[in-house]
Amino acid sequence: MIELINVSKKYGDIFAVKDISMTIGKAEICVLIGPSGCGKSTTLKMINRMVEPSSGDILIDNESVAELKPELLRRRIGYVIQSIGLFPHMTVGENIAVVPRLLKWEKSRVAARVDELLELVKLDALKYREKYPSELSGGEAQRVGVARALAADPPILLMDEPFGAVDPLNRERLQYEFVKIQKALNKTVVFVTHDIDEAIRIADKIAILKAGELVQYDTPENMLAAPVNKFVHDFVGVDRALKRLSRFKVGELMRPTTSITMVNYSTSLDEMRKKGRFSWVTDVNKRLRGWAELTKISTEKELNEALTELDADLISAHVDTSLKDALSKMLEHGVKTLAVVDDDTLLIGEIRMADIVDFTDEGDSS
Ligand SMILES: Nc1ncnc2c1ncn2[C@@H]1O[C@H](COP(=O)(O)OP(=O)(O)OP(=O)(O)O)[C@@H](O)[C@H]1O
Ligand SMILES: [Mg+2]
Repeated sequence: MIELINVSKKYGDIFAVKDISMTIGKAEICVLIGPSGCGKSTTLKMINRMVEPSSGDILIDNESVAELKPELLRRRIGYVIQSIGLFPHMTVGENIAVVPRLLKWEKSRVAARVDELLELVKLDALKYREKYPSELSGGEAQRVGVARALAADPPILLMDEPFGAVDPLNRERLQYEFVKIQKALNKTVVFVTHDIDEAIRIADKIAILKAGELVQYDTPENMLAAPVNKFVHDFVGVDRALKRLSRFKVGELMRPTTSITMVNYSTSLDEMRKKGRFSWVTDVNKRLRGWAELTKISTEKELNEALTELDADLISAHVDTSLKDALSKMLEHGVKTLAVVDDDTLLIGEIRMADIVDFTDEGDSS
């Protein structure tokens, strides 16, 4: 856990950071965001003492960083800087090995760690280990930067616009991969960006800064639903309702549903007709086959005729799909309900457009 307590940084008479207090929970990703010059990098650098605060205190697991030895901080805190910062005269492998070597790890252990980390960030160790930074694409270099920060397995990672140099498509992929890696390794991450979409995609908590001051510190869901003032409102964007939907999964809003199976459907038909005109149709294993208009069915033969057999992909959404993507699919295919399926594409519920719309209204408090 990282606590900032009334932290300020002054350069001359000017506050780069002004009286910031916030707590970053263990294994959380906290994203610092705000316009250029608002104090993001300065805040980050005070956590590992690359910059000393003018006043206030920063605690890591209840210990003041001012009292921690720099070697200890270096072991506990991995750091990825704004412009990648790989050493140009060192190979990829040597770059990643910098901190383990400082910590005097045995050679074989360092080599094994380099390969393991390259694999983690999805770079082939054999191919990349001996390359020099100038031989890497921007995105590859960023990954090496992340691998280097992870090298000594620090519980805390500070990342200053680590994906800034990557094109939008690869950037989104890197963000998802990074979240996966972070969840698996349980790192506490402080991540600086000025890209609100990136923040929404990866953050557990977002801190919005303006001119050195903390304006709002909240979950992305709350920030999108209830920006505290016009600055935050404008910063998160006009499409914040849609952005907010990207933070929730279909599984959180789905309803139980009924279905008929291709065999043995007749027992429940009368019951189901009372509920509605349509029903999902599955095979005996609950795998989605399509849907049927119930009023037309009384025999198995008729079921076969009434069945609109459709590619399950078109009429269903995986339970972990975001509400935003589910809504897009409904709009794309002109349907108001999607079947919800699990990993094995078995039917487990349904999601309705009206519920998503209600949910959006509930979250919109302005
Ligand atoms: N060493 C320094 N000496 C004087 N002023 C500084 C110094 N470092 C930063 N500043 C000032 O402090 C303010 C905050 O800088 P900081 O680097 O934290 O901004 P930032 O939010 O990271 O911006 P960006 O998005 O452009 O990276 C800026 O006004 C900057 O000019
Ligand atoms: Mg910066």
